[in-house]
Amino acid sequence: MQQDSAIHISGLNKTYANGFGALSNINLDIKRGEIFALLGPNGAGKTTLISTVCGIVQPTSGRITVAGFDSAQQYRAARAALGLVPQEISTDAFESVWNTVSFSRGLFGKPRNDAYIQDVLKRLSLWDKKDEQIRRLSGGMKRRVMIAKALSHEPSILFLDEPSAGVDVELRKSMWAQVRALRDAGVTIILTTHYLEEAEEMADRIGVINKGKLILVEDKHTIMQKMGKRQMIFVLRQPLATLPATLHPQPLVLDDDGSTLTWTYDAQAEIDISAMLDQLQAAGIRPKDIYSRQSNLEEIFMELVEAV
Ligand SMILES: Nc1ncnc2c1ncn2[C@@H]1O[C@H](COP(=O)(O)OP(=O)(O)O)[C@@H](O)[C@H]1O
Ligand SMILES: [Mg+2]
Repeated sequence: MQQDSAIHISGLNKTYANGFGALSNINLDIKRGEIFALLGPNGAGKTTLISTVCGIVQPTSGRITVAGFDSAQQYRAARAALGLVPQEISTDAFESVWNTVSFSRGLFGKPRNDAYIQDVLKRLSLWDKKDEQIRRLSGGMKRRVMIAKALSHEPSILFLDEPSAGVDVELRKSMWAQVRALRDAGVTIILTTHYLEEAEEMADRIGVINKGKLILVEDKHTIMQKMGKRQMIFVLRQPLATLPATLHPQPLVLDDDGSTLTWTYDAQAEIDISAMLDQLQAAGIRPKDIYSRQSNLEEIFMELVEAV
């Protein structure tokens, strides 16, 4: 186990009672103080993975430690070190925000600490709603109450299972800012998402999961650099019916209506633009515009998932 691991998972498998294999040989270290995004399509095994770490689902085999505690042998200590915000919002609608969050702290056997609860509510912009009944809150506020509840017992690790599901763009942005602030305050964050934008925006590192297999774990920027493709688009003055034969050796693709040529290359490759322009000119092609674009995480992700 690495010294700076908040969570260590080795050889984790989960086969559900019906025989379905939901997780296959997962090995993963979550570093202390990072935001880690577990990215994968619906049904990939994200919730199952989180649930095994949180002790809600029993692993079939493998070993998990949370903050150094074995999740099976030292369950209570492991559970106390983490907070979980589940996919579904579930709270007592008639209880106040303050009572809900304070009560949750009590469930972990933690002594009362009003100053801490106040701090959590302020950080999540819920302080002015502390006496409000949960049912009177907006959806976004309810979700923040779920985060406050998960933080009530001062865990060092916070799991957010699909935090943006059903949350509109505005709220998503403010929630991201609050999650980042938590990370800056020293909380390790693991979130699951099938929103590529969310992983790209939030994470320090990304793990891509598909069909129960962790197919890639990398620093976000490394993923972008390694897997990223750049494209140069040549917008033509006159549409072409076909790509001239002299250009066939070039990695150029003519689009369907013949109005643009697309040149795709590795983001890190050294390319010779003037040589390409010379080739085009020799073939009688003079672009009226040229622009370049970088592949985003969505395209990278599709490539990865299709490759498995
Ligand atoms: N209790 C269960 N019994 C059998 N299969 C399950 C159970 N829970 C989840 N699954 C299956 O395991 C797979 C992974 O589910 P889940 O972890 O919820 O995926 P995700 O959170 O990535 O959408 C899905 O195919 C799902 O249908
Ligand atoms: Mg899920």
